[in-house]
Formats: sequence, structure tokens, C-alpha cells
Amino acid sequence: MAKDTISIDTSVLINNIQELAKIGKDTKTGGITRLAFSKEDMQAVEFLTHLIKRYGLGVKIDPCGNIYAILDGKNRDSYVMCGSHIDTVPNSGMYNGVLGVLGGIESIKAIKDAGIKPEHTIMVGSFVDEEGRYQGLLGSRIVMGELNLDHLKNFYDGEGRSAYQAMKECGYKPDNISEAVIPHDRIKAFLEFHIDSGPILVKENLACGIVEKFAAPSFLRLLIKGIQAHAGATPMDMRHDPVMGACELANFVEQVAKKSSPSAVATVGYINASPGVKNIIPSSVQMHFDIRDYDKFARDDILASLINKIHKVCWTRQLEFEILEMYSLEPVACSKKIIKIIEDVFRKFNQTPFKLTSGAIFDSATFAKYVDTGVIFVRCKTSISHSPEELVDPTDLEVALNIFANTLLKLSTETS
Ligand code: GLV
Ligand code: MN
Repeated sequence: MAKDTISIDTSVLINNIQELAKIGKDTKTGGITRLAFSKEDMQAVEFLTHLIKRYGLGVKIDPCGNIYAILDGKNRDSYVMCGSHIDTVPNSGMYNGVLGVLGGIESIKAIKDAGIKPEHTIMVGSFVDEEGRYQGLLGSRIVMGELNLDHLKNFYDGEGRSAYQAMKECGYKPDNISEAVIPHDRIKAFLEFHIDSGPILVKENLACGIVEKFAAPSFLRLLIKGIQAHAGATPMDMRHDPVMGACELANFVEQVAKKSSPSAVATVGYINASPGVKNIIPSSVQMHFDIRDYDKFARDDILASLINKIHKVCWTRQLEFEILEMYSLEPVACSKKIIKIIEDVFRKFNQTPFKLTSGAIFDSATFAKYVDTGVIFVRCKTSISHSPEELVDPTDLEVALNIFANTLLKLSTETS
């Protein structure tokens, strides 16, 4: 095989994915739960660092817990980066994020084993809290210099622990957050290998695709307060029931998103009534909204109508509300230059260089704001991610990973 091409045996990667999947696995549902900075996440960190060392690669852990597998290039101050995350949502599948980390490590091991010394140092990152226990994309935002100590102290998980505290409890040194930042001008490119979290590649009957841009999400955490009362003794016209207000809002946002555009999506992923027993009209409800569209203005319109509706519903039902948290990301595009390089590698491997927009976001959505970024998707056979149903066919993985590794090789061996 020519020196400008490497070949990867995916059976080793599949074995590593299966080994990592044992950490945090619920044997009944088959789902994996490795929330950021949890005991399971720390076991996964140990698995990862052990693997990196066993492969004879450099390893670095920054003060916030981002881990890097490193293959030194001729130039130690210029990096080609890739990577993803090993934390999961609750009851997740085994590929989301993991593919990018373990696939990246397998790729640089193959480059090293082929005796190739790249021009640029290759860093495979495993970025903390991509999945949002504390806001999400946390590691990549830290690395790109978007966050400071105050942010870490003010991002909380559901139990009221801050990201700062969580990092400290895991033995990291978040006070030194500035040491985790990598200057943008040192990064020649960022590349991510990720599962297609939706049905697009299945519909197109393609093993892999190239991401062109990301949808822009808005997140809103709402607290609705009513009056706690007896479920049997309180007549219907004397109630201030926050759950009924929450239901109206959930229904509303679904209708608005459906009418807005075919690419708009709205989700109420969390709803929790307190005290939460059958014979009490609840005193309060917390609900979390996730609204996305490729078109930022359409997304902002949905958000504005929702906020308007929150005022109306709460006024009519005489409820109180508090917006606990609200933030939006901007739509971001991958680099045309990197897309062109990926397209060429697709052709080399006889694959159609199909381009798509990602409704899911991941660490690349941070990197793409600052550095040339590209993303390669592998088809999810079930079209379902963030679920134990996630499934990648080994044949798809073989072709997608080899395209990824060879793109990485090309980017890291370019002298320009
Ligand atoms: C991350 O997985 C997201 O798209 O929310
Ligand atoms: Mn995810």
C-alpha cells in the first residue's frame, strides 16, 4: 500500500468500543449511563488513558479533565486535532462520541505503526461534558477559550453541584482553566468522526457522509409554580395546577415547531412535578425545552412565541414562573477547504461524497467557530441515537473509519 494511504483493521476498534461500553451499562436495558464527572466517567477515563499508553502514544490531561492522545509531528507547535467525547446521556448507546475518540486513537496508532512522521502533531481529544450535564460542549468550549472560572462555578447539574466542584472532586485543577486553552492559530484543522444521530444516511442508503453545517439549538429551563393542594378535595375551578400549564406549553411548542419549517424541532426532554405523588396537586413543575433549526431566525421565532405563551398561560391559570436558564448557540458551518479534502478521500474510497446538515451538535460545533473544521458521519442503522438502539454496521464502520483516518493523515502530512 502506498505511503500516502493507511489501512485500519476495524475489529480492534469494535473490540475497544465493546470494552468501553461495559462501563456504566445497565444489563437490563442495554443502555449506558456515564454522566460527565461521575464514577463511571472516571472509570472510562482510566480505560482511555491505559489504552493510549498501551498504544505507545503521548498522553496529556488538562486541568479541566480533557484528555489527549498525542502523536508528535515534525512540528510540535502546530496541531491537527480530532476527537469527541466519552461521557454519555442517561441510557445512551455505545457509539455517540466514543467513535470519535476511539476511532481517532486507532487512526493515529495506524499512522505511527506505518512509520509515518506527520508534519503537524496530531492530538486526539476526549472532551469533558459534551452531553450537557453542565450545559454541554463544556470541554471544547474551555479549550477554545470561551469559558472562565466564573462559568464553571455557575454551571450546575441537576443535584446542584457546579462544574467547578465536580472537576475538583475528580482530582482536576479547574482554577488553572487558562492552561487548558489551545491558541486557535496553532490548530491547522479539527476533524470529528461521529455517528449520524438521525435518519439521513439510512434514507440515502449511504455508509457515510460529510457534514456541511450544524443546526442552531436554544435551551430553556422553566420553573412553574402553582398552589399545592389536595387532589380529591380541591374543585377544578379552585386549582392553580402547574402541571396543566406545563402540558399546555408542551403541546404549544410542538404545534409551533411543526408549522414553522420542516427542519424545526422542539423537545420537552425533562418534566418534573413536585412533590410528585398522585394525590397532591403539585406545587411546582420544572420543564426543559430544546428548540432547533438550521435557520436561526426561524428558531428564534419559535422561542419568542414560546416565551409569549408562557406569560399567557401563567397569567390565565394564575401561576408564577421563573426562567431558570436560557441560552442559544449560533448556526455554524464546516470549513469548505476541509470538506473538499474529505470529498477527495471519499472518491478515493469509491464512496459518494454526500453532504448533509447535522441536527445534532457536538464538539465540532465549537471548534468550527474558530478553526477549519470537518466532520465525517457514519450511518446509524436504526436511525436512532441517544438511545440503546444505536447501531453501527461493521462494514459501514470499516469504510467510514478508513476515510476518516486517511483524511487525518492528509491533513497532518500537508506542509502548507
Ligand atoms: C448533543 O448530542 C446534542 O445534539 O444535543
Ligand atoms: Mn450526543
